[in-house]
Amino acid sequence: MRSLGARLALLLLTAIVLVVISSSFVASLVMRGPRPDMTIDGTARQLAVLATFAEKDRAMAESAGLIVAPMPAGGPTDEELSHFLTEALLRISGMREAIISRQSTGGLIASLKLSDGNWLVMPMGPHGPPPDGWKVLVGWLGLIIIGSVLVSIFAASKIMKPLRLLEQAVAAVNPDGTLPHIPESGPGEIRATAQALNGLSARVKAATESRMRLVAAAGHDLRTPMTRMRLRAEFIRDEDERRKWLADLEELDRIADSAIGLVREEISKDSLEQVRLDRIVEGIVTELKAIDMNVKSGDLEQATICAGPLAVTRALRNLLINAATHGQSATVTVTHLGNRAVVRIIDTGPGIPEDRLDQVFEPFFRIDIARQRSFPGAGLGMAIAREIVTRFEGEITVRNRQPRGLEQVVSFKSAEAKAAG
Ligand SMILES: Nc1ncnc2c1ncn2[C@@H]1O[C@H](COP(=O)(O)OP(=O)(O)O)[C@@H](O)[C@H]1O
Ligand SMILES: [Mg+2]
Repeated sequence: MRSLGARLALLLLTAIVLVVISSSFVASLVMRGPRPDMTIDGTARQLAVLATFAEKDRAMAESAGLIVAPMPAGGPTDEELSHFLTEALLRISGMREAIISRQSTGGLIASLKLSDGNWLVMPMGPHGPPPDGWKVLVGWLGLIIIGSVLVSIFAASKIMKPLRLLEQAVAAVNPDGTLPHIPESGPGEIRATAQALNGLSARVKAATESRMRLVAAAGHDLRTPMTRMRLRAEFIRDEDERRKWLADLEELDRIADSAIGLVREEISKDSLEQVRLDRIVEGIVTELKAIDMNVKSGDLEQATICAGPLAVTRALRNLLINAATHGQSATVTVTHLGNRAVVRIIDTGPGIPEDRLDQVFEPFFRIDIARQRSFPGAGLGMAIAREIVTRFEGEITVRNRQPRGLEQVVSFKSAEAKAAG
């Protein structure tokens, strides 16, 4: 019984059934008719009068509707009632033989022996609970149980609805760790939780942004001393040494550039337009091939999305370069999946250890600096790519392939789907 809803329903059901059963029991105790030995006296008195009447004037009695028969009424004898009746008759009119028998219809018939050996046969009102009362009881309990099952399920699902909405909202965590806005409505506790989650999400967002800004500021501030160093490096006499200094400075420059780009991507809202994703990919592939990178394109279906072309190019270029360098060789395709345009980049490299997969989009994430010294970069490429993709409401995921390699998937809502709403 894992789900809270099921537990709630069970609790309600048990509560309802217990309350109904115990209150029915109390009601039956309070409202039960008097015991037969209390009521039989009145009956006995009437029967005794009628018997005396029948003994005195049988013809008159019969014409008044009394039945006088040579035998008592048939049917099984109710020993207990017969005993009570005989006792009562003894008290009222002296010894008189009497039998109460039960008919198949459930009715009772009293037979009193008259002095001439005949029997006065007289139907009686019902005494005690009806013989098949248990059937009624079972039906009554069945109805209560069915009714309370329905009520409990309905009530539990009603109570659980806001919680379920909350759960769904929390499950849809954005790639940057923030949550979509959760409606702050419903019962007090749920509203408070939604408010707290929204607050948390806003704080996470602010923290991510300020971290990015910090990275960019560091990159920016490095620029000035780097320019000075470059000037000084020009004066290094040894040709070889100077070349190395300048090359290192150039790499530093690139890193600082990417760091600044992290935020520039965020601020410059590169104009939104209809862009052909397949053409962008084709362009990048041509560009990277020209600098001898191991990149090839597979199926490039025509796909239009609504985004900033420069930014999207930059994001995809980062991913393709990663696949071609860290991943040894890159193959890229553009396809449609439902109403989304999907760019899939696969490579044949070592992939990324499973336990670090969720860190790849962190700024400055690099797996093994020693192993990768041959590739320039500061670990900002994927962080930038994710910034851009999520800004245009796209999704970016990475996963390892079997037996080796990495698959990077970027998807955007295609322009037609977006226009349709
Ligand atoms: N296709 C890939 N195959 C294996 N590792 C990768 C791949 N792409 C990225 N990585 C790992 O993720 C790290 C971060 O990538 P990125 O953000 O582009 O930074 P950079 O390329 O500058 O190191 C890389 O240093 C590398 O360790
Ligand atoms: Mg990279």
